[in-house]
Amino acid sequence: MSATPRTILVTSALPYANGPIHIGHLVEYLQTDIWVRFQKLRGHNCCFVCADDAHGTPIMLRADAEGISPETLLDRVWQEHRADFDDFHIEFDNYHTTHSEENREYANLIYERLRDGGHIARRTISQAYDPEREMFLPDRFIRGNCPRCGAADQYGDSCEACGATYDPTDLKNPRSVLSGATPVERESEHYFVKLADFGTELEAWLAGKDGVSPVQPEIANKLQDWLSTGLRDWDISRDAPYFGFEIPDAPGKYFYVWLDAPIGYIASFKQLCERDENFGFDAYWGPDSKAELYHFIGKDIAYFHTLFWPAQLMGAGFRAPSAVFCHGFLTVDGQKMSKSRGTFIRARTYLEHLNPEYLRYYFACKLGNGIDDLDLNLDDFSQRVNSDLVGKLVNIASRCAGFINKRFDGMLSAELAEPELYNHFISRGEPIAALFEGREFGKAVREIMALADRANQYIDEKKPWVLAKAEDQEAEVQAVCSMGLNLFRIMLLYLKPVLPAMAARAEDFLQVPAMDWSHLEAPLLNHRVAPFKALLVRVEDAQVEAMVAASREEMPAELAAVTATGPLVDEPLAEEISFADFAKIDLRVARIAAAEGVEGADKLLRLSLDLGGEERTVLAGIKSAYEPADLVGRHTVMVANLAPRKMRFGTSEGMVLAAGPGGDELWLLAPDAGAVPGMRIK
Ligand code: 2FM
Ligand code: ZN
Repeated sequence: MSATPRTILVTSALPYANGPIHIGHLVEYLQTDIWVRFQKLRGHNCCFVCADDAHGTPIMLRADAEGISPETLLDRVWQEHRADFDDFHIEFDNYHTTHSEENREYANLIYERLRDGGHIARRTISQAYDPEREMFLPDRFIRGNCPRCGAADQYGDSCEACGATYDPTDLKNPRSVLSGATPVERESEHYFVKLADFGTELEAWLAGKDGVSPVQPEIANKLQDWLSTGLRDWDISRDAPYFGFEIPDAPGKYFYVWLDAPIGYIASFKQLCERDENFGFDAYWGPDSKAELYHFIGKDIAYFHTLFWPAQLMGAGFRAPSAVFCHGFLTVDGQKMSKSRGTFIRARTYLEHLNPEYLRYYFACKLGNGIDDLDLNLDDFSQRVNSDLVGKLVNIASRCAGFINKRFDGMLSAELAEPELYNHFISRGEPIAALFEGREFGKAVREIMALADRANQYIDEKKPWVLAKAEDQEAEVQAVCSMGLNLFRIMLLYLKPVLPAMAARAEDFLQVPAMDWSHLEAPLLNHRVAPFKALLVRVEDAQVEAMVAASREEMPAELAAVTATGPLVDEPLAEEISFADFAKIDLRVARIAAAEGVEGADKLLRLSLDLGGEERTVLAGIKSAYEPADLVGRHTVMVANLAPRKMRFGTSEGMVLAAGPGGDELWLLAPDAGAVPGMRIK
């Protein structure tokens, strides 16, 4: 291990303050927490800061929809986030909010330095504006008919039915999701950071120090593309009404949320400095800082962290990140998390059913240093936890502790029975540490589990339960079980970054102070351990099933609030129609006879619908919400007299009816039992 302690500052991306933490978020917070805990156990000065990301239109609208002030919403969500993180043993050195005085101070400072350095441009641009709500509309707040296939109710930037992407101005019958009004084009002056000013500095940053890149190879390639195609000015202002910081020299203009969000890293650290004089601000953020600075983020926000953020820091005289570590997204049972399948699992719902350390361990098993997505397979989750942690690791301790507690009053032997085996376990410490350092947690865990297999093999060979029956083998029983507990102690230390609470319980049982990497070499000899208590119990399938069922039940409540797309439940009614108009629509009960994905289309399923004697093929944009196999045999409702529509992937002979904003939040309508295919709905 290195002799000189390193000084390291680590961040995770700041979660938005308008919704709960879910297991997708936890991939990142757990990855970061494990890495930080590892660094601390190695004796480094490592500090982990984070904050709620408090600004932007969705937060403003959510508070509005709940009839509360944004500040009240922020306070509530901050408490919820903190409780979720604490209960998952995610240990921040400081957790702040971007809606803070520290953040305002640094956002202003960075902006003013950029402006004074000539890196801010101003330009008038034209944007969609909601004349009723009197505000500019982000693309996601405009919906209308797809300009290519005509599908109704599509977002301002892309069509869920045919996959087309376009500008909001191309939508047919566009309307604001906030008021239903038709948006108008309106001009306003915006502020931009001239990113191209930092092209050379960004190239040099990307080249890395001593040839070590600050980003993973996949990200380096993308970054090289972005740099070589030319850096466009970055729009950093939004017009009122906006929840954020007003730009100091521009009344009525606010910093775009992504300008002050990463500055939240600085602000959170600043708050820590105010509380604890051991931390000096400039030693971490000054241009000559020798500290290491690492940002853990999801791959979707690499652009912000590897272009905009370093440019902001460079332009304002701060140091740049040492590295940005991206991770992939979480899938559950091989698919995107889904509210209808019950796999969109909130941190709190998980905690109501399962021990947080199961998930810490499972994610550690799955995490490497790349940006591939990782899958939480719910069967594998139970099996892996039960077989590795309960079956292998805890088993060693419980088998040995039984004899030591009962026969030797908790006393371990005076000498090690197998010094070579002990030294082998110690010798794996550095390779395992190198894997943790390189964020290869899955490989580190596999190494540790190989040691657990070796320890179990030792005990199986020595058979203390047989020795215990012989009268003259007392010392041997004590020696074997003391050896087992010493091996257990080493493995627990290696796993401590992943399983901090279990390690603490093991420390209580072993009667040792909090272990770190420097405590390893000396074995526990002539030492009394406490009575053994269960360190971890098995995961029961019923607990996992209950968690999934509870997550499915949360769905309507979640939707009744506000989704990221705005208060859709407030969607205005369409224009009134006569009964004669309604009667023109022939709605029928249909049985889904077959369902399959459509090759090349991300969102479409091809449904064969049985209308009681007639079969129709309908292309429906519901793939992200349903497994084809789950649909077969179900009854639903279709528009049966819609003229066939030619789509890119074939002709659709009708339409099935579903509710919801889209994505995995779509629910197919179904008649009550008794209705048969072909019946007309009137
Ligand atoms: O993507 C997100 O969830 C953002 N709230 C992350 C911000 S990270 C940092 F830049 F603040
Ligand atoms: Zn379309």
